[in-house]
Amino acid sequence: MGAREQGAHCTYIGPSGSQMGRKESMADTARVLSGFFDGIEYRGFGQKIVETLAHYASVPVWNGLTSEWHPTQFLADALTMRECAGGRPWNGITLAYLGDARFNMGNSLMVGCAKLGINFRSVAPKSLWTSDPVFQMAQGFAGKSGASVARTESVEEGVRGCDFLYTDVWVSMGEPDEVWKERIAMLEPYRVTGRVMDMTGKSECRFLHCLPAFHNRKTTIGEQIYQKYGIDCMEVNDEVFESPRNAAFLEAENRLHTIKAVMVATLAEENIDEALARNGF
Ligand code: NVA
Repeated sequence: MGAREQGAHCTYIGPSGSQMGRKESMADTARVLSGFFDGIEYRGFGQKIVETLAHYASVPVWNGLTSEWHPTQFLADALTMRECAGGRPWNGITLAYLGDARFNMGNSLMVGCAKLGINFRSVAPKSLWTSDPVFQMAQGFAGKSGASVARTESVEEGVRGCDFLYTDVWVSMGEPDEVWKERIAMLEPYRVTGRVMDMTGKSECRFLHCLPAFHNRKTTIGEQIYQKYGIDCMEVNDEVFESPRNAAFLEAENRLHTIKAVMVATLAEENIDEALARNGF
């Protein structure tokens, strides 16, 4: 949609739509696709794959999601926080992420917030914390931006005073089904409920989620989980998800606006310079 609304054409190459990695190396595919397209978005699994693609491609490559990082989602999250926080500076915003903090969203929120200056808390059982190297990377950025970055096991401590609570699925892409049982047991205390929202002490605190969310039984997996483990929601309940506190659909819309900005910024540098100059920048 973003490409189309900017007047560009878009071709989707699905998992079985090319020889990528099977009969043709990523390095070769990168050079073939660079001849066909002006930009390539990769949405898949390993971060190394998109980095190889970017290394060998001669056109911009956008990371649309890997197991480790989700940078374009973070741009939408930042825009949503800016809109909901009524023009407050980044340093005046505090966000807590609750759940499994080791994957794409836990990493990208920590580093993205640290870069912008948003105060960030990762709230998870210790074995699901964001890794030390990512935490150290975030601390480096926070040193420059003035953000605070913390990891804690305590929900009470983690959410106190927060303007936004963020959560994500408890089992990430690429993980086997066998981990559900253990993960549910570990993360039930970290579910975002009305009580947890209230623990922030801020009535204006908003809920964020990159979606899709398991907030009821109205999906195949949601129903299977109910049948097997007897819970009718996972990372967030309907009390929060179906309330005016939920900003996840604004966040979803902001994926469109922000990816357009990324494409324009990386594809049309001369036009951006002209536009900036025209507007006195
Ligand atoms: N964190 C989710 C994807 C978010 C769009 C996952 O890894 O499955």
